[in-house]
Amino acid sequence: MTDKRVLLIVGGGIAAYKALELTRLLRKAGVAVRPILTASGAHFVTPLSLSALAEDAVRTDLFSLGDEAEMGHIQLSRSADLVVVAPATADLMAKAANGLADDLASTTLLATDKPVLMAPAMNVRMWRHPATRRNVATLTNDGVAFVGPDDGAMACGEFGPGRMAEPEVIFAAILSALESAARPRPLAGRHVLVTAGPTAEPIDPVRVLTNRSSGKQGYAIAGALAELGARVTLVSGPVALAAPAGVDRIKVETAREMQAACVSALPADAAVCVAAVSDWRPDAVFAVKLKKGHDGPPAVALVENPDILAGLAAAGPDRPALVVGFAAETNDLEANARAKLARKGCDWVVANDVADDGSGGVMGGDENEVLLIDAAGTERWPRAGKVEVARRLAARIADALRTGEAP
Ligand code: CTP
Repeated sequence: MTDKRVLLIVGGGIAAYKALELTRLLRKAGVAVRPILTASGAHFVTPLSLSALAEDAVRTDLFSLGDEAEMGHIQLSRSADLVVVAPATADLMAKAANGLADDLASTTLLATDKPVLMAPAMNVRMWRHPATRRNVATLTNDGVAFVGPDDGAMACGEFGPGRMAEPEVIFAAILSALESAARPRPLAGRHVLVTAGPTAEPIDPVRVLTNRSSGKQGYAIAGALAELGARVTLVSGPVALAAPAGVDRIKVETAREMQAACVSALPADAAVCVAAVSDWRPDAVFAVKLKKGHDGPPAVALVENPDILAGLAAAGPDRPALVVGFAAETNDLEANARAKLARKGCDWVVANDVADDGSGGVMGGDENEVLLIDAAGTERWPRAGKVEVARRLAARIADALRTGEAP
């Protein structure tokens, strides 16, 4: 870790004193620390103690002529392998979530292209406030990682989540973030579109036509692609999953909304269609809730939905270089999937058997057993966790885009 550098932003809060111990641990491990102290942070620790432990000058002011001459704030924001905010106050998080930049710390967070790790510290009510919940969700969606906060007695006399994680815990999170930042990112600069989850087609204001897709495999693929550095747009039907770190999620309900979101996300280098799109939708949506009556059950006429995968594969100049479809089959897996490859015009089909084999089947489960099929042949992958299958597929996509194997 001796060649690693952390930009440490110390916000204003009683937990700021723990940033000193964190600095000491990092320096002991050979990690260089470049500190930024906010104006309110300076009420809790002195620039002198922080600077002495960091063995570097403490920066405090966006408009410091001396600091700017030595290293401008944009350069400063990129001068580290990782940006750490400890303590991350409610105010700093709100600024970062909303792109505000009115001091050196917030400007640095907006200007950086490096991974960011935040260690929140605040009163329990502030942590639980819907505004903070929203900000945490936004920051997570933007790829910010969090460590803590812990539960416990707080300086303000209240009890609950909000206490900053202990320095040793933040230190461990920093080391693992530095390790993952050092991993190769073969999909950096690439844009990949992923569809996931079911669609829900309205019948009337309260009823929908949908299916049992959990979205787990698609979300895992989106996350694995982001881990390899891709910019990922995840167009998702209704599922109960959080967006993976660093993934831009667009929520949709119907197949037609999913298609529109996919088309407006183009251009993309690759598209992976994992969504279980409803093949049909009710021809007309009843404006009011259907009631039981004397005429018996209503007739619901269905019409076919657009095929999103086939549409992307035939998108002319906008066609992603690599288009991957999924095939969920209950019988004649390989033959059906190969027919799908030809019919949809995609480059690969990942085929899985969704027949219940007595083990509960793969739909909704955490494991998957797939075939990777292209024009040249079929590869059989061993049964594995959905995350592992996702990582393997993401690595294959990276290879294909790199070598130009993708047509
Ligand atoms: N798909 C799509 N849009 C649709 C239907 C399917 O994008 N309207 C995509 C899925 O995301 C998946 C692939 O097509 O990648 C295969 O989906 P599947 O439901 O297995 O295929 P179907 O087109 O429904 O074919 P079949 O009726 O033969 O099963």
